[in-house]
Amino acid sequence: MTQLLIRENRILSALLEVSKVLNSSFELEKNLSRTMNVLGDFLEMERGSVFLLDHFTKELRIVAAHGLTKEQIERGKYKIGEGIVGRVLKKGSPMVIPNVGEEPLFLNKTGSRISKNGISFLCVPVKFKGESIGVLSADRIFKDKAITVDEDIRVLEIVASIIAQYVILWKHYKESEKERENLKLELKGRYSLPNIIGSSDKMQQVFEAVHRVAHSKATVLLYGESGTGKELIAKAIHYMSPRTKLPFVKFNCASIPEGLLESELFGHERGAFTGAINARKGRFELANGGTILLDEVGDLPINLQPKILRVLQEREFERVGGEKTIKVDVRLIAATGRNLEELVSKGKFREDLYYRLNVVPIFMPSIRERKEDIPLLIEHFIKRFNEENMKDVFISPEALRLLVDYDWPGNVRELENTMERLVVMSVKNTISPSDLPINLKLLPPKEVLQKESLKAGIEDIEKSSIFDALEKTGWIQAKAARIIGLTPRQIGYKMKKYRIASPIGLQ
Ligand SMILES: Nc1ncnc2c1ncn2[C@@H]1O[C@H](COP(=O)(O)OP(=O)(O)O)[C@@H](O)[C@H]1O
Ligand SMILES: [Mg+2]
Repeated sequence: MTQLLIRENRILSALLEVSKVLNSSFELEKNLSRTMNVLGDFLEMERGSVFLLDHFTKELRIVAAHGLTKEQIERGKYKIGEGIVGRVLKKGSPMVIPNVGEEPLFLNKTGSRISKNGISFLCVPVKFKGESIGVLSADRIFKDKAITVDEDIRVLEIVASIIAQYVILWKHYKESEKERENLKLELKGRYSLPNIIGSSDKMQQVFEAVHRVAHSKATVLLYGESGTGKELIAKAIHYMSPRTKLPFVKFNCASIPEGLLESELFGHERGAFTGAINARKGRFELANGGTILLDEVGDLPINLQPKILRVLQEREFERVGGEKTIKVDVRLIAATGRNLEELVSKGKFREDLYYRLNVVPIFMPSIRERKEDIPLLIEHFIKRFNEENMKDVFISPEALRLLVDYDWPGNVRELENTMERLVVMSVKNTISPSDLPINLKLLPPKEVLQKESLKAGIEDIEKSSIFDALEKTGWIQAKAARIIGLTPRQIGYKMKKYRIASPIGLQ
């Protein structure tokens, strides 16, 4: 009698433990394995396995087991109806093999039972709403005559029904997790352009605009600080447009002396001016059929603006010193880092031209406005410069932190150059904070100190406070030394040690 009570108690404890385990999380394999261990410990079952039906392969596969090795688990695969496990699934009712040694149906696929004699095999279906979704099996050595097979089957059936609920919940959870991820992907990476990095909302807006506008002939005006990728985007528009096989011509309005601008843009006839020995095509003619990028369009002299306006409106012009009207089919993209509206209000930029250019404005965000893209950009550049230099450099999390914290006044161009220098110059495989240029390390975050060696951390701080003090005092060493409590000799020594040099012109 007491024996029976103890046994009942154990069963209840086991069931309680199982439901606790399965309520803990959605880590399917881990929790089912723990469940099988509970059965092993509490109920003295030798081996236990949970098989689930894979709807794709139509196979039963062991998801979790107690008392089996990884290889044995791998081998445990059954078709529907195959062996005892396959039959239990197909029929949806339990089966007991009192002595597996005497049962030809018993396939022993896992190879876990060397001697099959004296072992009973119990197998119950895992069912949800009447449908079998898997099988729960256990081995038992019946030494104790008091325990009946029926009782064991009853316990296994209860456990199987808890497992069924859990598996169904897990499936729902996985599905909604997948949906959430798909949604995120759709929202995040909906637009992409080859080799242009940007998953921030601001860059996604840019990409979306590029996709929308590329196929049209509309004039695009790119606004943005230097180094934000205006030229890159202009090229993307061209290469995504039907003009892709025809020329992309870039022209920087600020880079050429005013007197030469007109002939550079529109070409000239022979003898148009001193030195014009031959006739020459201008950029608009060279870009015929394709796209022209007028960079720094805000620097276009006011006297040239009517001629640009005419190209935009009529698609025609005359070469310098020429009479013949030349017709071109050119798509115009303009870029500027200056505020054109302000130039208009100051009378430096024609209002009519401004409106003609501003058909589709695209605003390029600075890096400061899209810090979440910095790690992606860094990864992109490291990969590229590793390939170019046949290196295998990567960046430490501490250094990455500093790079993300930095303000990047030169935007992507500065980041790109910095990464190239770091990859090319690296002697180790890891870029760590001490490898970074001094202006990037002015305020090392605390974590860096903990993870890096203390000495390097202190040196970093020392280096940046010396740099800071020198900047503040206009690089007068004696003054800077006083601020940080060093003698002029000491600061001189430390500057040498850290290779801090006065900027050119202040020496
Ligand atoms: N989003 C980006 N992804 C990858 N590289 C970029 C990105 N934006 C800019 N770059 C790179 O940074 C540099 C500067 O870009 P650029 O288009 O010349 O800027 P801008 O014309 O605005 O001065 C170029 O080498 C460009 O390839
Ligand atoms: Mg540029």
